[in-house]
Amino acid sequence: MSAGAVAYARENAGRFLDELKTLLRIPSVSTTPEHKGDVEKAAEWVASELRRIGMEHVEVIRAAEGHPLVYADWLHAAGKPTVLCYAHYDVQPPDPLDEWVSPPFEPTERNGNLYARGAVDDKGQLVTQLKALESLLHPTTPKPGVSGAPGSQDGKLPINVRVIYEGEEEVGGERIAGFVQEHPERLKADFALISDTEMFAPELPTLCVGLRGMIYTELEVRGAKTDLHSGMYGGAAPNPFVALAQIIAGLKDRDGKILIPGFYDDVKAPSGDELAAWKKLPFDEEEYREKEVGASKLVGEKGYSAIERTWARPTLDVHGIVGGFIGAGAKTVIPAKATAKVSMRLVPDMTPEKAFRQYKEYVEKIKPEGVTVEVRLIHSGEAIVIGTDNPYVKAATTALKKVWGKDTVFIRSGGSIPIVGDFEKHLKIPSVMMGFGLPDDGLHAPNEKFCIGNFHRGIESLIEFFDEVGA
Ligand code: BES
Ligand code: MN
Ligand code: MN
Repeated sequence: MSAGAVAYARENAGRFLDELKTLLRIPSVSTTPEHKGDVEKAAEWVASELRRIGMEHVEVIRAAEGHPLVYADWLHAAGKPTVLCYAHYDVQPPDPLDEWVSPPFEPTERNGNLYARGAVDDKGQLVTQLKALESLLHPTTPKPGVSGAPGSQDGKLPINVRVIYEGEEEVGGERIAGFVQEHPERLKADFALISDTEMFAPELPTLCVGLRGMIYTELEVRGAKTDLHSGMYGGAAPNPFVALAQIIAGLKDRDGKILIPGFYDDVKAPSGDELAAWKKLPFDEEEYREKEVGASKLVGEKGYSAIERTWARPTLDVHGIVGGFIGAGAKTVIPAKATAKVSMRLVPDMTPEKAFRQYKEYVEKIKPEGVTVEVRLIHSGEAIVIGTDNPYVKAATTALKKVWGKDTVFIRSGGSIPIVGDFEKHLKIPSVMMGFGLPDDGLHAPNEKFCIGNFHRGIESLIEFFDEVGA
């Protein structure tokens, strides 16, 4: 079966890429209210593609708030396993806009890459799933006169498939978390396929087996009841920016160690086997510093490699500070309030609840006099490490070997995909995290890209994977 499907994917490679571009033109930024209609449009586009390729029970699931889920299934492979395919069609905001070589929502090809916001995270990867399914569902011998018409497909999938796509992964995934909890039967499957991760290096087939969790917070500091003239009141009125800076400076020491009491209590160290495997990965810390990070020095906790620090240690970062005077020129003001966006990445066996409580208590304790602090939780998700001892991981490595000609490496990632923990907890199924991003793809950054070769080989990898699971 896969030979026909792979041939079909190759014949239609140009159209597949064009259709990805159509999705990339929709600015489905989930965090900004102005783009709510665009997120909706992207959901509709994905749903109509699922219908067109012959998936069944396609539904755009809307709730009173948030962005829709897109569901579909094809459950006619009697006796075969069921996969739950996951990806997200929302994207991060594109700013800073003037850093983009070509506009973020005008997908542009350069040097074998496709540049656009969402190219790799995660529309490109979502479309690898759609195209693998389309290639498998398409008849190898079209019926005369009806080829291409909706519903004319007489192809069959080698396994049963359910699809669940979300439009708010980048803002914490509240809707999908609720859906998984309330309707586990609608997502009943033997395993999940997550297409939202990256390969460790170009040409190196990779499965991701661990993700960090996170708590994303806002820290709001208030001083005077209103903005004040800084000459008249400077020296007497508290300055919330200075207080905020003092609080932030108290959260971490110069070596990157988080100073919140008890924060590291539940951190579980990676196993000796895992650490040994990480040492064998093709990774040069100096090259990573220079080419990927581009800073004069890497920072972080003493005694850990950069891989350990990003995959297996908790961290704390500040994403933005809002308030006060930020226009051109000078304004002499003591602002009444200042807000910082602060997140912490968590690792097993930390819990978001405990981490948030410890953080909040500590902030209250170290805040300077004269200001009040409000600590708000925006979203959170648990860290996960998944087992590799199951037939689906085996099938994945076999499929990847066919397409890439190499043995698969197992890695963790420092990023977070909140729903993966919920799949394990509520659906009780393992996940296979097979993604085709590259380390320099620029996720969440200007000039995000997807390697076009990886898009096509990703599609072939998924075709082979589904076939292998069905065999
Ligand atoms: N796809 C990423 C997560 C990721 C990145 C996994 C690299 C593996 C390798 C995902 O879209 C993402 O960015 N998630 C957010 C989490 C969210 C709750 C805001 C993240 O990690 O910041
Ligand atoms: Mn993603
Ligand atoms: Mn992302």
